[in-house]
Amino acid sequence: MKGFHLTTFGCQMNEHDSERMKGMLVALGYGEVQERGDADLILFNTCSIRESADNRFIGHLGEAKRLKAEDPTRVVGVGGCWAQSVKDEVFARFPFVDVAFGPGQIHKLAEFLTSDSLTAQGYFEFEGFPGELPAHRAREHQAWVQVSVGCNCVCAYCIVPSTRGREASRAPHKLVAEVERLASEGVREVTLLGQNVNSYGRDLPVGAKATFAELLAMVDAVEGIERIRYTSPHPKDMREDVVRAHAELASVCEHIHLPLQAGSSRILKAMRRTYDRPRYLDRVDMIREIVPDCALSTDIIVGFPGETEEDFLETLEVVDRVGYDSAFTFVFSARRGTLAADLPDQLPHSVKRERMERLVPLVQRRARERSQRFIGRDMEVLVEGASRTDPARLRGRIRHNKTVNFDGAAGPGELVEVEISSATSTTLAGSERLLARLR
Ligand code: 5AD
Ligand code: SF4
Repeated sequence: MKGFHLTTFGCQMNEHDSERMKGMLVALGYGEVQERGDADLILFNTCSIRESADNRFIGHLGEAKRLKAEDPTRVVGVGGCWAQSVKDEVFARFPFVDVAFGPGQIHKLAEFLTSDSLTAQGYFEFEGFPGELPAHRAREHQAWVQVSVGCNCVCAYCIVPSTRGREASRAPHKLVAEVERLASEGVREVTLLGQNVNSYGRDLPVGAKATFAELLAMVDAVEGIERIRYTSPHPKDMREDVVRAHAELASVCEHIHLPLQAGSSRILKAMRRTYDRPRYLDRVDMIREIVPDCALSTDIIVGFPGETEEDFLETLEVVDRVGYDSAFTFVFSARRGTLAADLPDQLPHSVKRERMERLVPLVQRRARERSQRFIGRDMEVLVEGASRTDPARLRGRIRHNKTVNFDGAAGPGELVEVEISSATSTTLAGSERLLARLR
């Protein structure tokens, strides 16, 4: 049996593509190996969202080059957003690469592996949804479901529209059928994936349309699905019907990711986010009113070109006012081909770093404060396995998406009740209520 080794970088969309790639490779008779050096097929599923993502990957590629030199029969494949963003250049710059393909183009990898062609091949056409490939799931009880591909936004900093193409939604009945199949295999939590997940359905033909809120209701109705999450939404599409779904549908979790990016209306405009600070805060107020206990998380970029100290202070102010349960913070990174890369007033790295050093403690303090509300409460936890820090304990997640380490006797995939006794900014701790095993 031939062995493959796959390394994944980037977002959940890539993680999911990798699961499908593994499913496909297993169907082709390959087996997964743990060490890159033992593989006949060395694969990378890449990301290009920030320069740091590129840099991390290039080091790995160097090792693949060395292994290929040792044994030239090895096949080296590079898929995903970095591959798409450099396209055929990849073969000129890295001649040891045999096959390169854009995000989601997994079936093209199969085509290459099953053809007699010995010449290097690149596959970079956008082709809508890449077919119904069975995934090799990392966790038995949790699954990703890709509801759309591509993104029609034009955020000035973002490379994704150029790597993943125009938005295309999958038909709702196909998605429901997929979720039903997953539920029958024991999946209890699904995460709906889309580059702009809550603009789902706009491109569907009249007569076969469904809004994102309607899709949530259809998935909620599937027997056996206890939890629904989704990522990544855009604040402009976070309409009242979607927020209401969190309050009204039993399986839609009490967590909303609402990427802020910047707190200053001026910078939001330069970023082409299509909302300003007051409209963003209106959304937050609506969420807090309809789903009072909802966890909120966000993405923030510091040091966008032209960001002044006053602009940055507005970001700090929004973070303080909203009180996110968690936030991903990024230093702006100029990406090839994006509008922001060519803007004047690029900020020096020292300024970006200094702002980041002020943002992170505030994010952490507010997250820690928010976490305290769980102490003393009994929370529903979906068990994932042993705790990473102490194998004698268990780890799982509450509906609000916080990780919990706890004492208990449950197995992976079980829903249990855990009494929370302490909380940090990122994790909770507690113990299982043994008499209250849920569903
Ligand atoms: N520089 C820094 N952060 C970025 N993000 C996207 N593009 C860039 C960039 N060029 C961040 C955004 C997005 C998250 C996934 O990555 O915050 O929401
Ligand atoms: Fe990275 Fe964005 Fe591509 Fe995901 S969509 S792999 S985050 S560049």
